[in-house]
Amino acid sequence: MDNFTYYNPTKLIFGQNQLNALPEQVKQYGRRVLVVYGGGSIKRNGIYDEVMVKLAEMNAEVFELPGVEPNPRISTVRKGVEICKREGIDFLLAVGGGSTIDCTKAIAVGAKTDVDMWEIVTKKAGATEALPFGTVLTLSATGSEMNSGSVITNWETNEKHGWGLAPYTYPKFSILDPTHTFSVPKDQTIYGIVDMMSHVLEHYFHQETNTPVQDRFCEAILVTVMETAPKLLEDLENYELRETIMLSGTLALNNMLNMGFRGDWATHNLEHAVSAVHDIPHGGGLAILFPNWMKHVLDENNVSRFKQFAINVFHVDSQGKSDNEVAVEGIKKLRDFWNSIGAPSKLADYNIDDSSVEIMAEKTVVARPEYGTFKSLTKEDSIAIFRASL
Ligand code: NZQ
Ligand code: ZN
Repeated sequence: MDNFTYYNPTKLIFGQNQLNALPEQVKQYGRRVLVVYGGGSIKRNGIYDEVMVKLAEMNAEVFELPGVEPNPRISTVRKGVEICKREGIDFLLAVGGGSTIDCTKAIAVGAKTDVDMWEIVTKKAGATEALPFGTVLTLSATGSEMNSGSVITNWETNEKHGWGLAPYTYPKFSILDPTHTFSVPKDQTIYGIVDMMSHVLEHYFHQETNTPVQDRFCEAILVTVMETAPKLLEDLENYELRETIMLSGTLALNNMLNMGFRGDWATHNLEHAVSAVHDIPHGGGLAILFPNWMKHVLDENNVSRFKQFAINVFHVDSQGKSDNEVAVEGIKKLRDFWNSIGAPSKLADYNIDDSSVEIMAEKTVVARPEYGTFKSLTKEDSIAIFRASL
């Protein structure tokens, strides 16, 4: 593996009733707190009230930014930046899923600069400080609660970009109480499961050598999530199942799995292009695209990794089969598993047809003409993968 430095400054506060730690954590950064949240789920499930009680305990002066969209928009980021500057905000608290957290990361940076945040998001540079922020996670999926990444959409230009400015965009702390995810509906739970599995897969398909620890961490998380998911989908308020999924989602993307190498990330690039044009749920897009990316990139040079995946994750019996047959069986098992939990499998499930393939493919190469580290892809590959996904 490559030399590396691992630094993750986010304090993870995990378990039932851990919201009690909130006042102590926030107090360190000041009293003027901007609470950022989404379209209202936290009001319906009571988390909003719980948070407000805790903030009152430390006499916080609370400001609010509601209405962060799934696939958060730069227009909402700008609103938040404006509030921070106008009100002299000391600390941001994201209460929600990945979208709310990602939006908060952008507001935190925007509050400390006069440069427009879209410029910083697209250049992935241009700022060297941010307001401190913390998170109360309500949906297990993205890992944003313990990484420095953020994904923001510009609906005027139909662009969706991942960016991050470590260490400023790491949360100071994240509070993860599995009971806060009890109310996540079945479809969002499925998308979250697909997303966290996809993060593991983006890491797993790499070209580095001698990574047995990282590979087995990846395999362990995949197997655990697949054992847990079907039971959870039948029993959405089961604490232990929610707990396992919550920890899996965080570990899948806190960069622990890719110590010493870079993951692939081509499928995320493809999905971001789809949701930039069609505003579909991120996990839904990944469920459609990942097996098709696998089929597209599989070749005689990388077949051994697909074979390892098939055997170690899906226990495919390799007796009497060629490496390619084993690899293809592994990909089919992934597709079958996602089908079995009710994830979408075709772009047509979101009414996306051939007419938008060209524009989506163009978006996969706006940043760079080639993408993906496991196998380098071009716009022609994007077109082929999208067509295979229709
Ligand atoms: O907006 P509200 O009303 O809160 O409802 C949300 C939203 O409709 C709802 N929800 C969240 N917690 C709930 C709940 N409903 C009931 N009970 C709860 N406890 O779920 C819906 C989806 O929420 P969202 O935050 O959009 O989902 P997710 O966490 O999957 O985030 C998706 C976004 O994260 C980006 C994606 O591209 C997408 O924009 N990603 C961010 C990453 C990162 N920062 O590291 C990596 C990922 O690969 C991903 O790209
Ligand atoms: Zn993702």
